[in-house]
Amino acid sequence: MDYSKFITKISKKRKENFIRTLTGIYMQNPQSLFFAGGFPNADMFPFKEISVTYGDGSQQKLVDRDLFLSLQYGPSQGFSPLLKKWREFQIKWHSPKYDNWDVQATTGSIEGCSKLFEMLVEEGEPVMIQSPIYTGILAMVKPMPIELIEIGMDDDGVLPSQIIKACEERRQKGKSGPNVLYVNPTGSNPVGNVYSHERKVEIYKLAQKYDFLIMEDDPYIFMHFLNKQPQSLLSMDVDGRVLRLDSFSKLMSSGLRLGMVTAPKPIIERLQLHVQSSTIHPSSLSQVLVSKLLETWSDEDVEAHISRIQDFYKERRDEMLKVLYKHFAGIAEWSDPKGGMFVWLKVTVLDDVRDLVMKECVPQGVLILPGHVFYQDETKPCQYVRLCYSQVSFEDMEKGLSKVAESIRKMAAEKKIRSKG
Ligand SMILES: Cc1ncc(COP(=O)(O)O)c(C=O)c1O
Repeated sequence: MDYSKFITKISKKRKENFIRTLTGIYMQNPQSLFFAGGFPNADMFPFKEISVTYGDGSQQKLVDRDLFLSLQYGPSQGFSPLLKKWREFQIKWHSPKYDNWDVQATTGSIEGCSKLFEMLVEEGEPVMIQSPIYTGILAMVKPMPIELIEIGMDDDGVLPSQIIKACEERRQKGKSGPNVLYVNPTGSNPVGNVYSHERKVEIYKLAQKYDFLIMEDDPYIFMHFLNKQPQSLLSMDVDGRVLRLDSFSKLMSSGLRLGMVTAPKPIIERLQLHVQSSTIHPSSLSQVLVSKLLETWSDEDVEAHISRIQDFYKERRDEMLKVLYKHFAGIAEWSDPKGGMFVWLKVTVLDDVRDLVMKECVPQGVLILPGHVFYQDETKPCQYVRLCYSQVSFEDMEKGLSKVAESIRKMAAEKKIRSKG
């Protein structure tokens, strides 16, 4: 594929930072005489050893070269052993169908998304985004001088009819694009659905027909409650049009701030220039820690860890559903989440949830998220709230959500009186 039509003017102007290129060469060949870079001398770093204890009690000590690599600048594409491990990981889980792909380390999936939007969506041009959508993405794209086309969803994922409509409207105007569709297919934030295989196939076919790229932002890939691992869009990609964003936040640690983009090499090369000129690279320490852990773990260890995550969150989801069935029957509707960390609750007896959240729940010390923030236009009335089940204790679920239900009933009764009067 020729990617030049997808790359924005700003991104095309990015040129290689030669210091970064030579740094990459130096890190691969530490015996070379390195006058080129501006490395601070690691002897002056006030750390002599970093030691971590893993969940199973085993220890990892970072000393000597490992310590140096953890504390020093590194290559902008990422820490080489981590990149190698991640390429193997992607082959195991997605078996990409084309050869010309590579990976880029990022400071979380969010950094990858931010950079890809800037790289791929030209000023004044449209981009299709799943709706509702994670607020972090909206915060990123709303201020950009681009057109946002919200593509609605059902349980199976974004609606093909709306993608077709958006693309056909452009064609009728004699314009190309939209060039990009953003989706969050597993345990989608905020609704908790998992895109069906059939829907993914349909979406991919549309991407081929209308020639757009797909940003597959998939931080909850392993946090699902299905019997079978869903097949990713990357694994269906024969052309090189899926840009996959992975995250270590839910798999290992959110504070390490580490993610990976897997995409066609021309996209990765451009992305790397963007990283070079912004963050330089994600934290070396985070990359070394994750890399060492992945080296320590066998495939079976990874799978056991994933199973633990799934069992843990499924138990929490089930507990929250129990509380919902107990307190919210007749006042709200929801679909049982198939993945992720959230229940997307529709408060059927109220026209809008803003007052419920701000005037009733916040004063009682119960913080729930109003659904408005997951849409481009936050001013429109919204009946949804997002409830996160990842952290609150079972006891607090009962305590907090019973208060929410009580408040809804009170407000619904007041609404009834108002409508009569
Ligand atoms: C859909 C989605 N994308 C991206 C992110 C951010 O992930 P990361 O921590 O890897 O930046 C989140 C986190 O909540 C998310 O829900």
